[in-house]
Amino acid sequence: MKYLTFALAKGRLANKSLDLFEKCGINMEEMRDPDTRKLIFTNEELKIRMFLAKPSDVPTYVDYGAADIGIAGKDTLLEEGRKLYEVLDLGFGKCRMCVCGPQEAAQYLRHHQMIRVASKYPNIAKNYFYNVKHQTVEIIKLNGSVELAPIVGLSEVIVDIVETGSTLRENGLKVLEEICPLSARVVVNPVSMKMENERIMKLIKELKELTR
Ligand code: PRP
Repeated sequence: MKYLTFALAKGRLANKSLDLFEKCGINMEEMRDPDTRKLIFTNEELKIRMFLAKPSDVPTYVDYGAADIGIAGKDTLLEEGRKLYEVLDLGFGKCRMCVCGPQEAAQYLRHHQMIRVASKYPNIAKNYFYNVKHQTVEIIKLNGSVELAPIVGLSEVIVDIVETGSTLRENGLKVLEEICPLSARVVVNPVSMKMENERIMKLIKELKELTR
């Protein structure tokens, strides 16, 4: 039997993904060790391999078939825009993609002004402003702490994830528009889905029952 390979997004979703696999009888305890330098973990009995990757790399591994199955946030999947089968919403890691800024910036959105938009998600931001709102803006790509941008005058607004809203509150910013809801998703490589259909569908069914 061939190994089924899983790519899991590092960070916020990792422990919850591992909890879920544990409930399915797929124990990958070693992966939780924060000190390990090991990159890939194998369950010989079940013929399963798993690794953690930078969230934005998960869709890449799955697209090329280096991983059969991936778990990543909908934000990452939208931003990367790869052709994968999204088979399950795991219902955790719930948050929202929003346009945020100081209250004064609301008028720029209302009047469709040419503003600067900072984001870790330039493709999502571009798609929203150009194809949904039909507003011409300048997108500035950042790699983190995006809330700084409107505070120091790099941009008028940001496109970012809002979970509890406390980062916004503590920095005097508000949600100005909501783009879409987000959560952790399971994605499958289309060729793997054909070649390993029975194994993959059985696993998805189990995951689905556990997340209901
Ligand atoms: C994310 C996001 C917001 C924050 C939202 O950042 O970019 O900054 O979480 O959460 P909240 O609404 O509960 O405050 P993350 O911690 O992933 O780090 P980053 O600075 O690299 O974006």
